[in-house]
Amino acid sequence: MRQTVEKFGYVEYGASILEPTELYKAKTGEEIINEQTYSFKDRGDRDVTLRPEMTPTVARMIAHKKRELSFPLRWYSIPNLFRYEKPQKGRLREHWQLNVDLFGIENLNAEIEIITIASEIMEAFGAKDTDFEIRINSRKNLQQIIESKIKKTEFYTKAIKLLDKKDKMSEEDFTKLWSEISDESPDFEQNQPQNIKELIEKLNKQDINNVIYDPILARGFDYYTDIVFEIYDTNKENPRALFGGGRYNDLLDIFGAEKVPAIGFGMGDVTIGDFLKTRNLIPEYKPTATLYIAHAEGTDFETINNIAKKIRDIGVNTIVDITDKKVSDQIKRASKENVLYSLTIGEKEIQSGIFSLKNMQTGEMKELQEKELFNELRSI
Ligand code: HAM
Repeated sequence: MRQTVEKFGYVEYGASILEPTELYKAKTGEEIINEQTYSFKDRGDRDVTLRPEMTPTVARMIAHKKRELSFPLRWYSIPNLFRYEKPQKGRLREHWQLNVDLFGIENLNAEIEIITIASEIMEAFGAKDTDFEIRINSRKNLQQIIESKIKKTEFYTKAIKLLDKKDKMSEEDFTKLWSEISDESPDFEQNQPQNIKELIEKLNKQDINNVIYDPILARGFDYYTDIVFEIYDTNKENPRALFGGGRYNDLLDIFGAEKVPAIGFGMGDVTIGDFLKTRNLIPEYKPTATLYIAHAEGTDFETINNIAKKIRDIGVNTIVDITDKKVSDQIKRASKENVLYSLTIGEKEIQSGIFSLKNMQTGEMKELQEKELFNELRSI
């Protein structure tokens, strides 16, 4: 995920997991605040909340430093978030969420860049475009339709939340709840709004063809202002969205900044994990270290540590075995660590300056002079 977003020039930021509860009151949405947060009083009697999402935090950070920053601004983060939801498939009370956000661009090029990044992340995980579907809608357009159907204007937020949950409830339950807020049919089918049409056409031109217009896609948060989108697994075994995002052009205003247009998405580790498992795409575990140095009994550690330092300095991650175990047990450990190479150093190697580098996958051994050893390691 990091590699893909950095290819587009996004810069990583971080923030505290603890926030004043106030932060979420204005725009996150009542349900999240009242029912889904870990909120408590701190020792100073302040109301605090473990962040349930990153968007209000990043919006506030940028609003406060607006004058020092230059736009467009491309930022990403992989925070852990806390939501007091019922733990179930695709939902946990703590999850990690990649957040990718672009600030300062009002035109559709921002939507294109953000959706392209989301699609390239899926591609980087090995997904084919038939494996997932990008659903987009215009919140603005949906708002107009809802407002023309509801009995009272106060029902708007209720309607958005209900639509957001539609896929997770029975048709009957939905119809019943809908009838409480509207006398009209919950029919949203209509011509595509102009900006959706244009966006889909432009994405198609970039060979992103798995995008569809979803007229009831709502997104649960109150801060979205226009285009919203979600990515779904096409395998119905995973019914929850993998990504969710959209445009939120008014959120930075509430922190006192002049208007800063913004768009971004969040993508969770739990849902992408389910997706990758279903399709056998879980990436192979890659160890941190490439080389494991074992030592013959009685070898001076100072010398070994000096060699290890030189190897690390050329960029090869190296573990030095510091146990008192036999060489054969040290090598067993090296193979458990899944490293590519091992090196056993004893007085003989130190005296002769000739080292034998073992390829742990093939078992092949290479006798190398110190200089050759470094050349070999550099080429890994
Ligand atoms: P969200 O739709 O609430 O959006 O979350 C985005 C993604 O995070 C979901 O599609 C899902 O993959 C994952 N996710 C959310 N809640 C959970 C949970 N309890 N357990 C596991 N995974 C979860 C947001 O949070 C927006 N702030 C995203 C955004 C960024 N919009 C603009 N910029």
